[in-house]
Amino acid sequence: MEEIQHRLMRAGIWDEQLEMLLRALWKYGVMQIQDENLRSTVIKFLCVVPRIFYVDHASRSGNFHPWWQNGQNGTLRSIVESVILLPPQSRHIRGLLNEALEPNQHAMDVAYAATIISDTWKKEDHGDIHYGPEHGRIAAEHWRSFAHIKHLDAHVIEEVADACYWHMGLYTPGATLTTPFTPVTELVNACDVCTSHCELGVIYEPKLVIV
Ligand SMILES: [Fe+2]
Repeated sequence: MEEIQHRLMRAGIWDEQLEMLLRALWKYGVMQIQDENLRSTVIKFLCVVPRIFYVDHASRSGNFHPWWQNGQNGTLRSIVESVILLPPQSRHIRGLLNEALEPNQHAMDVAYAATIISDTWKKEDHGDIHYGPEHGRIAAEHWRSFAHIKHLDAHVIEEVADACYWHMGLYTPGATLTTPFTPVTELVNACDVCTSHCELGVIYEPKLVIV
C-alpha cells in the first residue's frame, strides 16, 4: 500500500478519507486473496492504474449509485462495498459451492481480483476520456497486458479478465440473454449491481427520509 500512498501523495490527492478507504480495500479485498501470485499482481496493478480511480465519484450523472458514492473517492467506496458483499453473495451461487456449501477458494480469489480491478479504468488521467460502459473491457485489456508481463499464470489472468470484462452482466456492451457467464462472473456482477443501487440509502440510513 505504501507505493500507492506515495504516488497519491506526490499527486496531492492523499487525505484521511482516501487512507481509510484504501485500508478498507486492503482488509476486505486485497488481503482476502489467498493466491500470493495473484494478490501481488493485483497490488502491482493498483500502482499503475489512473490516479483518478482513487478520487473519482462513482457515477458521472449522479443517478446510478447511492449518494455516498457520488462524492470524492466514490468509485473506491463502491468497490469496497462490493468486496464486502462477495462472501455472503457467493453462498447463493451453486456453481461456486462444494458439498459442504463452502465457496471454492480459487473462485473467490478470482472474484476479489476482478471486483478490485473492474472500475480502475473508467477514465484516463489526461484528456477528457471516459470509457462509459466499455470500462470493464478497457480494464480487462490493461490487466491482461500487465499480468502477462508479471508472469502470472495465463489461465488465472483470463479468469480475472473475463469476470472484469463482464462485471456489468447483461448490461455489458455486447451481452445478450444467451451470453454464458461463469459462476465467478455471476458473483462479481451480483455484488456490482447491489452496491450501485441508487436507493440503498433507504435500506441503510437509520432515519428514513422520503423526498
Ligand atoms: Fe463498473
